Amino acid sequence: MSTHKEVKKITTHTLQEMKRAGTKIAMLTGYDFSLARILDDSGIDVILVGDSASNVMAGHETTLPITLEQMIYHAASVVRAVKRALVVVDLPFGSYQGNSKEALNSAIRIMKESGAHAVKLEGGREVKDSIERILTAGVPVMGHLGLTPQSIYKFGTYVVRAKEKEEADRLIEDALILEQSGCFSIVLEKIPAVLAKKVSGKLKIPTIGIGAGKHTDGQVLVLHDMLGINKEFSPRFLRRYLNLYDDISKAIDKYIQDVKSQNFPNEKEQY
Ligand code: KIV
Repeated sequence: MSTHKEVKKITTHTLQEMKRAGTKIAMLTGYDFSLARILDDSGIDVILVGDSASNVMAGHETTLPITLEQMIYHAASVVRAVKRALVVVDLPFGSYQGNSKEALNSAIRIMKESGAHAVKLEGGREVKDSIERILTAGVPVMGHLGLTPQSIYKFGTYVVRAKEKEEADRLIEDALILEQSGCFSIVLEKIPAVLAKKVSGKLKIPTIGIGAGKHTDGQVLVLHDMLGINKEFSPRFLRRYLNLYDDISKAIDKYIQDVKSQNFPNEKEQY
């Protein structure tokens, strides 16, 4: 008799079934082995190795500087920790736009060198060729519409997108194009809840919202934001489940005091 417990892995098909069954999809970002293990053991459905690593791991102001090699490093660290969750990796800025062959090569490198299960890229009709080419290699693709942080210098700000009818209509068209191109899911970032509801109702594939209200088929947050590691970033959509900045600061203060006062290490903590 085997003592090995079978883990039912989440696949892109599981997500489609979850949409059909009305079961919400829980996704969080992850960038390293230790936290990815907690995410997976806790039962998260999808771990997104987001290019937000550029902000929260590397301290850049935008997501633009992170490289393909750095994304692969983060993705491989996450994959080593995961037994059940679907691991999706962002294609970084400059690795897929305007050149479907380069998009395919970038996606193949991510899959081959990290062992991840799918890639995500930002944009609508303008990235259709890249999506279709990546799919020819059997790599599942997640789309991303609304506020697309890699285009921050085009938008100028991180405010809510598609509030006006023209941009909302275009977003709906883009969502349908992404679905027809073969995306298995689409992230909808920072758009009005009514629009996200409309898009989610029109698509057969699941939508995952961030700042897009409750009617998307799932939700995603940046792990460091929801854990409160980061104090400065406080958009309305963010729910903080912990205040780790304060808790970690307290623990470090206590450690410093213990070292200075020679309270640490004690007799039992030495050889
Ligand atoms: O990079 C990221 O973390 C993302 C999420 C905000 C969806 O794309």
